[in-house]
Amino acid sequence: MKITKICCIGAGYVGGPTMAVIAQKCPHIQVKVVDLNAERIAAWNDEDLNNIPIYEPGLDAIVGEARGRNLFFSTEVEKAIDEAQIIFISVNTPTKTYGKGKGMAADLKYIELCARQIAKIAKDDKIVVEKSTLPVRTAEAIKSILDNTGNGVQFQILSNPEFLAEGTAVSDLLNPDRILIGGDTTAEGQEAIQTLVDVYANWVPTDKILTTNVWSSELSKLTANAFLAQRISSINAMSELCEKTGADVNEVAKAIGMDSRIGPKFLKASVGFGGSCFQKDILNLVYIAKSYGLNEVADYWEQVIIMNDHQKRRFSSNIVQTLYNTVSDKKITFLGWAFKKDTNDTRESAAIYVADDLINENAKIAVYDPKVSRKKILADLDYLESRKAEDNANAILSFEDPYEASKGAHAIAVLTEWDEFVQYDWQRIYDSMQKPAFVFDGRNILNRAEMESIGFVYQAIGS
Ligand code: NAD
Ligand code: UGA
Repeated sequence: MKITKICCIGAGYVGGPTMAVIAQKCPHIQVKVVDLNAERIAAWNDEDLNNIPIYEPGLDAIVGEARGRNLFFSTEVEKAIDEAQIIFISVNTPTKTYGKGKGMAADLKYIELCARQIAKIAKDDKIVVEKSTLPVRTAEAIKSILDNTGNGVQFQILSNPEFLAEGTAVSDLLNPDRILIGGDTTAEGQEAIQTLVDVYANWVPTDKILTTNVWSSELSKLTANAFLAQRISSINAMSELCEKTGADVNEVAKAIGMDSRIGPKFLKASVGFGGSCFQKDILNLVYIAKSYGLNEVADYWEQVIIMNDHQKRRFSSNIVQTLYNTVSDKKITFLGWAFKKDTNDTRESAAIYVADDLINENAKIAVYDPKVSRKKILADLDYLESRKAEDNANAILSFEDPYEASKGAHAIAVLTEWDEFVQYDWQRIYDSMQKPAFVFDGRNILNRAEMESIGFVYQAIGS
């Protein structure tokens, strides 16, 4: 089938950047990204490219090139479904907050809504692509809804999980390690796979496009995230042992990473991983394993989350303990709130949990993040429902300038590894702080010798 029209339901961190790159690389295909969230769509359509809703290095230029040519953002979901030959579903799949599987299983209500809407609207054959991260065998449910509520047209369901990381989304999309496409083993299924392969082949070398059956593709996505997160929990577990023994986790990471079987990536000890996906996807994996009665498998993976929670809590307790067992009314400056550098996304950021612990101890938290607003910070804390919104608002001081944020502080905690933090005039910061001036580096980005020569009491993770 020659593809001329694609639509994507969901204009979020995945739908927006992914479709922008497809549109840029396939000028002959019209790409429509649709979302129920009118505010988000308006922001994608904002003439000023600084205002598009997702900050990713390089994304503004790509949107600027393709938008209005063959890339469109709209709230007209039904129209886009009707016109498209390929429909990507890229909606959120958060952890369930109610009912069976609460706190573990993926909430598939948005996925099901999409499937029902596609079934209702479609008047000709469509390829439906799961771009969202889904539990293994979700395609079965989607197929059942489409076939039983549709208008008799043929649907092919493909799984095409997304592996981009935030902060590097554009380069990950332009040069992916691989594109994974799972489909039915039937002739129609294979034809649908080939159709999607042809879209990606516009810029991805075909030897990097891997095709599998649907279930392998769905499960590979959860597996990839579980393995990545497991490496972080593994090195973080070692960081605590390093602190007790005089070993330095950065040296240990370097030493083991030079083993080509281990490799150097994803071995950076930290205050704990955040982001919308690692925890959600592992909990989902744990839930799936449990539902098949595989309790040892479930416990094995759950430990990755237990370790990560411990790492966040350990960081905040250490701050309290080091500041003479009280942070009451002390100003503690947070450098960074985003879950990693080069993104404005704060979902599940370690900063939220560390702040929550410290506010429980009556600390005042002064936050500076180059891309995160006060409104977002307060929304993140309010979401935890630990205390009244006004108490959060009183406990959080936010600043547009890191030097202002640090003035009079008892301690600085580095929560995000933004490059600019390393460039600061740390002498100036030191001079404006209470003494002794403490720095708790949750990202191991500052230089211990330099910090100590200025006079800071400097603590890093795992050394
Ligand atoms: P997101 O919350 O940023 O975006 C999802 C969007 O879908 C929202 O704007 C929401 O309004 C919209 N939506 C929900 N239901 C809808 C409906 N019925 N019709 C129209 N729009 C609807 O989420 P995200 O971060 O883009 O993640 C989407 C999926 O991709 C998730 O399954 C996630 O696990 C997966 N994923 C995310 C990343 C990442 O880096 N964020 C990477 C790989 C995979
Ligand atoms: C992660 C995966 O890397 C992507 O492949 C995947 O597509 C995505 O999840 C998803 O499914 O949502 P992302 O969460 O955007 O991407 O970012 P990562 O670079 O993986 O970082 C996740 C968290 O781990 C961040 O808080 C980061 O600071 C932390 N991290 C990462 C460490 O603490 N140490 C490391 O060595 C690496």
